[in-house]
Amino acid sequence: RGVLSNPLRPVILTAAKSNAVRRLVTVAPPTRRIVDRFVAGTTRADAMTVATQLLGSGRGVSIDHLGENTLDVGQARAVVGEYCDLLADLGTLGGATPETFTGAPAVEVSVKLTALGLSLGTDGSKIALDHAREICTAAQDAGAWVSIDAEDHTVTDDTLAIVRDLRADFPDVGAVVQAYLRRTEGDCRELVGPRSRVRLCKGAYDEPESVAYRDRAEVDASYLRCLQILMAGDGYPMVASHDPAFVTAVDPLAAVTGRGRGEFEHQMLFGIRDNEQQRLADAGRRVRVYVPYGSQWYGYLMRRLAERPSNLRFFVRSLLSR
Ligand code: FDA
Repeated sequence: RGVLSNPLRPVILTAAKSNAVRRLVTVAPPTRRIVDRFVAGTTRADAMTVATQLLGSGRGVSIDHLGENTLDVGQARAVVGEYCDLLADLGTLGGATPETFTGAPAVEVSVKLTALGLSLGTDGSKIALDHAREICTAAQDAGAWVSIDAEDHTVTDDTLAIVRDLRADFPDVGAVVQAYLRRTEGDCRELVGPRSRVRLCKGAYDEPESVAYRDRAEVDASYLRCLQILMAGDGYPMVASHDPAFVTAVDPLAAVTGRGRGEFEHQMLFGIRDNEQQRLADAGRRVRVYVPYGSQWYGYLMRRLAERPSNLRFFVRSLLSR
């Protein structure tokens, strides 16, 4: 079952934007069990515990402080402060770098520009850029990487423009592209230059047909085309997918393009295909796990539920049995 095969997906992703559903879901006690599957916890200490465990198991991490669509500059400042504190803490984990990450930071943070103020009216782009710069400076001091998450298509242009600006001063800042967007093949061609880090994912939002492929086979075909472009380019591909088809597609492409094991990485989400993550890491692969934490988990959880009908069935059963 894949990203777009769930008929309830648009309904769940619409509910993701509803304050009424958010209130209902967040007060329901059984919610905790399913939140715990996908989220490291609510505090920075929780994130650090999970990061330490994952590094000890031979995997790298990309930590996401949950939150998006901030409409308040004070809140955006608080997010910057939290990332800077997180990076200071992550900087103390230097000695724990797994062997597969020799020559590259095993620790990264993932950042959503709408959490940094991108949606704050006409100054939003400048505010988000300035905030992102502060986080990149803290990351540099901590020896960590930064990637800028991809959100819905209304902010793709602004997001990629900010990544371009950031890369002038912080060349390792990672971009994220979504294979379901029709534009992404073109974006990949523009992003394959030297030192460019690009995370390729399928895409997790409910997008209109005008901008996105809505058929699973079309999304998969697009993912493969984008993967081929990135693997053949001069940058550093980050293959963010749990789909066995793409996990196994990487090796033959690496062989054709002459890429060694330290010249790309696999990425998966915390709580999803954990055994497979460990199997790949044990086989000497560079594997990075995206670890979200914080109290603003609602939108993230709804996107994970929308991806898999069985997650949703489990969740609804838990709510009904309360
Ligand atoms: P697909 O959905 O086809 O799943 C393949 C298999 O993986 C399934 O058969 C199942 O075994 C397992 N699986 C997948 N999702 C599951 C779930 N929710 N619960 C249980 N099992 C599941 N998106 C975005 O729009 N912007 C972003 O910035 C990011 N960032 C990002 C980082 C990383 C590291 C990853 C792995 C993913 C993202 N995503 C994302 C999410 C991504 O776009 C996509 O929604 C999910 O990864 C699911 O797509 P797959 O490629 O895994 O395939």
